[in-house]
Amino acid sequence: MANIPPLDLTQQYQTLGTEVNAAVTALLASGRYIGGAAVDTFEQGFAAYLGVPQVVGCNSGTDALYLALRALDIGPGDEVITSPFTFFATAETISAVGATPVFVDIDANTFNLDLGQIAAAITPRTRALMPVHLFGQPLDLQHLCALAQDHHLAVIEDCAQATGADWAGKKVGCWGDVGCFSFFPTKNLGACGDGGAIATGNADLAQRIRELKEHGSPQRYYHSAIGINSRLDALQATILTIKLRYLDQWNQQRRAVADRYTQALQGLPGLKAPQAPQGGTSVWHQYTVRIQNCGSSRRCDAPTTQPQPCETQAPRCRDWVRNHLQAQGISTMIYYPVPLHQQAVYQNLGYQPGQLPQAEQVAREVLSLPMFPELTLDQQHQVITALKDCLPKIWV
Ligand SMILES: Cc1ncc(COP(=O)(O)O)c(C=O)c1O
Repeated sequence: MANIPPLDLTQQYQTLGTEVNAAVTALLASGRYIGGAAVDTFEQGFAAYLGVPQVVGCNSGTDALYLALRALDIGPGDEVITSPFTFFATAETISAVGATPVFVDIDANTFNLDLGQIAAAITPRTRALMPVHLFGQPLDLQHLCALAQDHHLAVIEDCAQATGADWAGKKVGCWGDVGCFSFFPTKNLGACGDGGAIATGNADLAQRIRELKEHGSPQRYYHSAIGINSRLDALQATILTIKLRYLDQWNQQRRAVADRYTQALQGLPGLKAPQAPQGGTSVWHQYTVRIQNCGSSRRCDAPTTQPQPCETQAPRCRDWVRNHLQAQGISTMIYYPVPLHQQAVYQNLGYQPGQLPQAEQVAREVLSLPMFPELTLDQQHQVITALKDCLPKIWV
């Protein structure tokens, strides 16, 4: 039986182990574990890679979003427009600063915010737009930034899943007031632990963020704001500096994997392949298909091969396909099963079922296939074969 994981980080280490071990050993011997040259080098290298004047390292993508909101003085009484179909941290940070997330539905073809619906959600309280480049797909930043400018709103890009993606040749994270990145190990540029960064072209904002991430301290032991402690470790910065050199190559390998999936899965009944963006370059953090319901629970209950029980009360073809693949040793993921406006913690915001129909439907249909740069042709062939084998059994 196959054993194909959704991603495999051990392969990166096999390739880079010698280089990483030497750099980490040197860092350990230096005794300089907080800040210092390792962090400066990474911040400068990442700024040059993105083509942005300032990068500030921090502890995580979550902290990056939180610090960006704080630096822009967004807080109680303010609204921030964002996507309901993303990892929780996007909206969580808006709530953490005391502001209110306002969810606008997504475009089911790109999984990103439906730009045509943003204007209607803007109120006198709206302070910022927080788009997410989900699954590595860049959103149309020309359109979004023009909208923000017309309404005098800040733009905070959540680039956690899209390091290296661009729109119209300019990297994501460089378009808005602030770009926020995550270096969680599974990300396209991943550390060996937590890490994050904030990119900005605004020197004042960068300075504010530097102070906020160090206990609101412009000068050691002098505090002008209530901040947090959010550091990019020297150890992680050392590793990230090495990995940054490989990022474009890895993203290119991801694009090749995505192209092969797209070509092979065209026309499969019940399956919608993701669309590559027109006008930008995706870095395919995930390759997420949609498995639509065939409408017949009987078929899902009684396929020709034995499925595991569906995860939910109402059988869904997506869950059956997932179980079918798992039974053959192919692991897939569901990003994300519950849109944010339907999370328990946001019940108080008063969204009604069906209010954001695209996000709700997509959450029922998404299935992220194995995707990582080192996925072999043979492994990918097995995933494709398994899908080709099971989909026609449901969608006769
Ligand atoms: C879209 C998005 N935003 C924010 C985050 C938060 O990043 P971190 O895990 O580094 O805090 C993530 C990480 O999973 C993410 O996927």
